Amino acid sequence: MDILILGGAGQVGTELQAHAWPEGVRLHAPDRHSLDITDEAAVAAALDTRAYAAVINPAAYTAVDRAESDIAAAWRLNALAPAILAAETARRNTPLVHVSTDYVFDGSGEGFYAPDAPVNPRSVYGASKAAGEMAVRTGNPRHAILRTAWVVSPHRGNFVKTMLRLSGERDRLTVVEDQHGCPTSAADLAGALAAIALHLAGDEAAPTGTFHCVNDGATTWCGFARAILAGSAKRGGRSVPVEGIPTSAYPTPARRPANSRLSTQSLTDSFGIAPRGWEAALDDILDRLVGPVRSH
Ligand SMILES: NC(=O)c1ccc[n+]([C@@H]2O[C@H](COP(=O)([O-])OP(=O)(O)OC[C@H]3O[C@@H](n4cnc5c(N)ncnc54)[C@H](OP(=O)(O)O)[C@@H]3O)[C@@H](O)[C@H]2O)c1
Repeated sequence: MDILILGGAGQVGTELQAHAWPEGVRLHAPDRHSLDITDEAAVAAALDTRAYAAVINPAAYTAVDRAESDIAAAWRLNALAPAILAAETARRNTPLVHVSTDYVFDGSGEGFYAPDAPVNPRSVYGASKAAGEMAVRTGNPRHAILRTAWVVSPHRGNFVKTMLRLSGERDRLTVVEDQHGCPTSAADLAGALAAIALHLAGDEAAPTGTFHCVNDGATTWCGFARAILAGSAKRGGRSVPVEGIPTSAYPTPARRPANSRLSTQSLTDSFGIAPRGWEAALDDILDRLVGPVRSH
């Protein structure tokens, strides 16, 4: 069985390639230089090379603040490319598993968002991702869209790596404490994406639609930073105090939702996937980045 992974060099793409797939699965993960997913002819040609059992798309324009001034590029990658992928996979009756974001929500809701809650993006990134979702939803009936959030891993740039780096450069950190969300391990997300791709590949009647996939629980960026540095200290790494600040004290080009906590209930109901808590997932990443927990 052949599976095509797009954006294979990204955080999630890297973990998809590292995932323990069942025997008989062959992965194909071209980087963006060998397959630019905004190029319709190139996507069609890639899909013609063999009969893929499923296509997984974690590729995206993920620079949330840069997107505010690089609007066309963000829309090309986050909206046009999913439309191309949906059209070309639908033409071949190939399931498409697509990754989206909590930033499709405006953050004014209380509690945990269900997948069918109304979207109302407040940033270019969120709007372009919401458009990409719609293109997938309407373009290929055999789709699963997994919205995720606050993705971290040992790879590339992400919040865990930034906090560890800054703790080595400063005596204390100030981090936003009024945005609530769900930290998510790229490895755990990759496991869910793989399981769902295999479901859709093996069963034309498998559940389709939009699902939320984040680690269990929720925190603020400040709470997340404190957990990262406490975990670093337990492993003999550096730790500094973290002071909570309001979003208003840390202006950024893109507006971010104050609450983007996502409910994974329908992921569990449809696929039997129940993500573990974010703290355990963070421990695995810190083990890789800092080292094992020290006994004293
Ligand atoms: N990171 C987060 O906190 C977060 C939160 C919510 C949702 N998400 C979603 O989760 C997914 C995966 O995120 P991530 O953190 O793994 O992203 P990432 O590390 O930024 O990876 C994105 C990948 O897309 C590739 N790419 C860029 N332009 C491309 C093109 N034209 N054709 C093909 N590939 C192209 C990039 O290539 P290069 O390697 O050459 O740059 C990169 O490998 C995305 O859909 C994102 O919107 C992420």
